[in-house]
Amino acid sequence: MIAISNQQFLQETLNKRAAESALRKLTVENGWIDFCSNDYLGFARSTELTKMIENEFQTTKNIRNGSSGSRLLAGNTEYAEVLEKKIAAYHGFDAALLYNSGYDANIGLFSCIAKRGDTIIYDELIHASVRDGVRLSFANNYSFKHNDIEDLEQKIKSAKGRIFLAVESVYSMDGDCAPLKEIAIICEKYSVLLIVDEAHSIGVFGKNGKGMISELQLEKKVFATVFTFGKAMGCDGAVVCGSDILRNYLINFSRSFIYTTAKPLHGLISINCAYELLKQSQEAITTLKNRIRYFQSKFDKTNHSLTKIESESSIQCLVIPGNESVKRVVSNLQKLNFDVRAILYPTVPKGLERIRICLHTYNTETEIEILAKQFQASV
Ligand SMILES: Cc1ncc(COP(=O)(O)O)c(C=O)c1O
Repeated sequence: MIAISNQQFLQETLNKRAAESALRKLTVENGWIDFCSNDYLGFARSTELTKMIENEFQTTKNIRNGSSGSRLLAGNTEYAEVLEKKIAAYHGFDAALLYNSGYDANIGLFSCIAKRGDTIIYDELIHASVRDGVRLSFANNYSFKHNDIEDLEQKIKSAKGRIFLAVESVYSMDGDCAPLKEIAIICEKYSVLLIVDEAHSIGVFGKNGKGMISELQLEKKVFATVFTFGKAMGCDGAVVCGSDILRNYLINFSRSFIYTTAKPLHGLISINCAYELLKQSQEAITTLKNRIRYFQSKFDKTNHSLTKIESESSIQCLVIPGNESVKRVVSNLQKLNFDVRAILYPTVPKGLERIRICLHTYNTETEIEILAKQFQASV
């Protein structure tokens, strides 16, 4: 290993982060009451899903542990192709292409979809994976104000070339939803190609968790959607859904699809079984919605002098300005075994630091009630 003295330049940057109370650290699992994970429907901890995966694995012909290559070389399987068709049909699209993660899907899609001279417009709160994909693209790019249709229209009017628009159906750090119907109308008016990231919407919105595009019946209005499997689906990976032409294009030009080892069979089986479970999960989704409503009633503005970001999703945010202040409240709640986490500057803008609470089917009303009381006592 290179001498520590030669790595001082790294330590200096870390020190700067620490001085802003913004140093990121890894923590391991803690057994606290989970108000933090993305396991909205409890799939990641579902013994039923584990059994389904084990059974499917036993009965599926498999000749190797790893996939042993990229999809374009030795890594493709009939299982992957059938799964993609099944996922596309579930969400109401002609085709789907699997990626190893949502990060890969967004990087791979946005880096190749627009050409030099085209424009990618994105919501200012769009996920880092879309931003990183856009940065790799040769197209022009700029953001519009969060969920602001007027600003979006202005930005579209001044855009050049073919125009792409990137939004999330549920914003990951705020939990609020995009006004997708209005956005779809604007996109149609100006022939803008709409791309929607459904990472936090799958499993939560739409009949049988098909997502927000399905709930609003906008399948024919979008150019592409990204569904990720690491959140409500309880496993990992992602797909880009759209047309057969889009799928063929991505197979040819999307570098995070082309230059990586394909997901092995066990991962594909996990995704397949998670979809089987999702089909039967309408009751669980209703339970989740009830928990969200219960949380909203307990954290009503009339009960607390707090800034709560309006949200109908399983992500609920309580704004406590300042890294130090939000960390103090979080630390108080953690001492009481509540697994809540602070979202700090620079992940969110200064002044909008927050506690991001994720709700799950397995959070009881009593837990939510105690959390609300303790929160009030801590601020
Ligand atoms: C909106 C959004 N898109 C994409 C991703 C990336 O998905 P994955 O965790 O599967 O890489 C995330 C996860 O943090 C997300 O919140």
